[in-house]
Order: sequence, then C-alpha cells, then structure tokens
Amino acid sequence: MALVPYEEGRALQDLRRPTATYRFAGRNVRIQQDWERHGVAAVVWDAAVVLSAYLEMGGIDLRDRSVIELGAGTGLLGIVATLL
Ligand SMILES: C[S@@+](CC[C@H](N)C(=O)[O-])C[C@H]1O[C@@H](n2cnc3c(N)ncnc32)[C@H](O)[C@@H]1O
Repeated sequence: MALVPYEEGRALQDLRRPTATYRFAGRNVRIQQDWERHGVAAVVWDAAVVLSAYLEMGGIDLRDRSVIELGAGTGLLGIVATLL
C-alpha cells in the first residue's frame, strides 16, 4: 500500500485546467480535460500518470500484445501504451 501526500488546492487546480501535458516515450502528450461538464470522467487521474511511468520503465512488456483499457477516461494510459 502507498500513502501519497495530497494537496487538495493544488490537485483541484490541475484538474480544472483545460489541458494537461505529459512527456512519455519521447513524445509530448496533450490531453484535453473538462471538469466542469464531465467531472471525474474527463480529467487525468494520478493513477494513469503513475501507471504510464511504470510502463515506460518497462514494468510490463507490451510488444506484440493487444491491450484493452477499461474505464479509459481521457485515455492517457492507452495513448502511452500505444507509443511504447
Ligand atoms: C476514476 S476514472 C479514471 C480514468 C482514467 N483511467 C485515468 O486514470 O485517468 C474512471 C473512468 O471509468 C469510466 N467508467 C466508469 N464506469 C464505466 C463503465 N461501466 N464502462 C466504461 N467506462 C466506465 C468513467 O467514465 C471514468 O472515465
């Protein structure tokens, strides 16, 4: 189990931004977010960022694999998996 420090003010600011940009697999990935209209379904969750970083580290070998992302939300993880 992991305990992650959570600053509510800063976290909510990030969720309310219209875009969130990440760098994975040597590429900039810009995700559109819409907290006001779709809430939790239209923002990038920290879990997607952490798992994307894990995949990038080689935590799971994705070569020649088919992957389905359930509950993709904004799709960051699926995009990163495809880039890798
Ligand atoms: C907690 S969010 C996480 C989104 C994304 N995986 C991330 O980490 O940024 C859960 C997502 O699952 C979607 N979801 C919930 N129930 C679903 C269902 N029955 N079928 C498909 N998607 C669903 C929600 O719309 C939301 O986008």
